Amino acid sequence: MSTIDIENSLGITFCERLPLAFTHGQGSQVWDEAGKQYLDFTSGWGVTCLGHCHPVVVAAIAKQAARLMQSPNAGFTYSPERAALLQQLQKVLPANISNAYFCNSGAEANDAALKLARKITGKHKVISTQGSFHGRSFNTLSVSRGPDNSGRYLPQLPDICFVPHGDTAALAEVIDQQTAAVIVEPVQGEGGVRIPPANWLAQVQELCHRHDALLIVDEIQTGFCRTGKFFALEHSPALIQPDFITMAKGIAAGFPFAAFAVSPQVNALVQKDDHGGTYCGNPLGCALSNTVLSYLLDHNIASRVQLSGGFLLQALQDLQEKFPLLIRQVRGLGLLCAIELHEIALARRLTLRCAEAGLLVVPTRNGIIRLLPDLLVKREDMETAISILQQALQDSAG
Ligand SMILES: Cc1ncc(COP(=O)(O)O)c(C=O)c1O
Repeated sequence: MSTIDIENSLGITFCERLPLAFTHGQGSQVWDEAGKQYLDFTSGWGVTCLGHCHPVVVAAIAKQAARLMQSPNAGFTYSPERAALLQQLQKVLPANISNAYFCNSGAEANDAALKLARKITGKHKVISTQGSFHGRSFNTLSVSRGPDNSGRYLPQLPDICFVPHGDTAALAEVIDQQTAAVIVEPVQGEGGVRIPPANWLAQVQELCHRHDALLIVDEIQTGFCRTGKFFALEHSPALIQPDFITMAKGIAAGFPFAAFAVSPQVNALVQKDDHGGTYCGNPLGCALSNTVLSYLLDHNIASRVQLSGGFLLQALQDLQEKFPLLIRQVRGLGLLCAIELHEIALARRLTLRCAEAGLLVVPTRNGIIRLLPDLLVKREDMETAISILQQALQDSAG
């Protein structure tokens, strides 16, 4: 028998662990072991888009779990649940997309896109953006953040280069006929809610076309109404027709599930054995994702997020006016919001103070905290969150 260090078994994290243990949740609230209530403005890192334990989510899981969770042959046969989900996805994916494949996590979806882009183009070079985040698998780490990140796992994937997010001229300098793909987040999430100039994505697309490179749009954090459009690429004034679009997080409101969808040109070169996995497209995930999509569409959640996001951003801007010496900038698109502080260490103190006062926020690198409430968050919960933040800033100022 082994002796597992239970106390520290969560020791390897990507940010500082809060001294808390949550036992249950409802809507935008969660409760810890001691019964204390918190407002969850993390949504489990942008995942629980309908809040915790939404009745339609719980019912969809229970219903499908009682029917079939895993296909006998891991999904090689026709699956009614998968077919139903694909029907639904057709309604929201960009018009040029012809096929979608399922995975278990965002990293896997991006990994598959990178792998296929290299295979399909026969080229190696991949261009990503500084400060990006595309996952923690070996391939996706190599295209995340910048050379400072991938240097830890040498030798990293070769032929990767990074350009500043939102900088078309920098991309134009490095993209060439050797480029297999450019991978971008329409708005950087983990990078601290970096919103590029409105035309940037169209310009990236144009550069990709000119150099026969494939465009991979990572909508893992921004998709499923998070930014007030079903996908953030819809904010672009020009039509964006990506070669790959990758999805996870909100796609199944809390169940580990993900997908990548491709254009017909890409799909024509996808062969047997190119993608798969024991749980990919399992009936439980498909049934749940189908339910989530229906809910988002039937209740016009994208419009709701535009309104809620507008309210939250305005409130954050008011906070910045009150605390200009503490807050460098606030940014937001829909319910993907960030507060960037002048002092990097203040992000940690604020995160802890907010948690003490019953508000959970997302600590982010470089002195940033993010607010990612669920998409159904109520006005009064946003007001409570802002007043907790205000008090926490007040305490830090004084
Ligand atoms: C934009 C983006 N891409 C990829 C990922 C990785 O997804 P996962 O954690 O499901 O592997 C994330 C996770 O935060 C993300 O925000």
